[in-house]
Amino acid sequence: MAIIVGILGYMMQSGTWIHNESFWGAFFNPLYLPQLAFRTFFALMLAGVFFMFLTPFFTKAGSNLRRWAIQLLGFWTLFWWIWAALSAFNYWYKVPELMKSNTPVAIATQQFTTWYDVILIMLLAAVVTVLIVALWGVIWPRRMPAVVAIIPFCLAIVLVGYFERVREFIRKPYVIEEYLYSNGLRVQDYPLFKEQGILPYSTYVANSIITPENEIDAGRDVFMVSCTRCHTASGANSITRRFSLLYGEEPWDKSNVASFISGMHNVRYFMPPFPGNDAELQALAAYIVKLQQKPERLFGAQEVGVSINSSN
Ligand code: HEC
Repeated sequence: MAIIVGILGYMMQSGTWIHNESFWGAFFNPLYLPQLAFRTFFALMLAGVFFMFLTPFFTKAGSNLRRWAIQLLGFWTLFWWIWAALSAFNYWYKVPELMKSNTPVAIATQQFTTWYDVILIMLLAAVVTVLIVALWGVIWPRRMPAVVAIIPFCLAIVLVGYFERVREFIRKPYVIEEYLYSNGLRVQDYPLFKEQGILPYSTYVANSIITPENEIDAGRDVFMVSCTRCHTASGANSITRRFSLLYGEEPWDKSNVASFISGMHNVRYFMPPFPGNDAELQALAAYIVKLQQKPERLFGAQEVGVSINSSN
């Protein structure tokens, strides 16, 4: 059934969604089927690994039932491992080159990109270990100590986590390539924001016009709209930490901060370009410089409610 739907989908799809904006083009985006295949096989393999982990809790050591269960689950895991591996290659092959270039940061974070190779080898070792334990289960089910059955389970959890992180990360700076940036803004609206600013078009901000008096508050609004999808003010991936790593602990120069932000998408491809106009860029830089001197925590709308931009 899934195969028929898939074939139909491909038939209805001519070009990518970005060119035809068709429903089926969106549904069967180029990574949909490769990802569906990989996830399905991986989930089936996970089921085997999970039950292998449970088996020692529910069966007596040395019993025929345990031997039989371990052998069956070893075979199951092994079978789906092969399909998961094949579909993983197919999936990786279909990922656009531009996205692949994000992988070192996706896997290791910027700070640890030099460890990329080591982490990659560890992940591969985890994948191979699952295979070895599955084989062990098939060949010597009686000789498998209960503790060994836990290993593939733990490794599989790490692998799922890594897969999700990498999959989410490598799309950056887009959610939908060339259409929607990961800050939630559409590529086609950028020229308008560049000219008129983003604040007048943002509903949930308090300031839409920047004056010398409200510059810092407006800068906070700009930060909220354009950076907080990925950065906090002082918590995880905080903007102050990021600029400290660039410019040290001495007071930062506002014009340096502003010029970094205006070109940040060229040096750090995973970030979308700054969306606003020049006044907003200056206000954002002023806010970030202020944040260095006076750190603050920004709370989400669930804590502080929303301010509505009255000019909209
Ligand atoms: C789509 C997510 C995303 C958005 C939106 C985003 N950033 Fe980033 N930014 C990141 C990631 C991811 C890193 C790298 C973190 C790491 O090293 O692991 C980063 C790193 C940085 C760095 C450090 C760069 C370096 O060379 O070390 C600065 C400075 C920065 N961001 C500023 C900003 C500012 C200012 C904005 C808003 C105008 C912004 N970012 C918007 C994701 C984003």
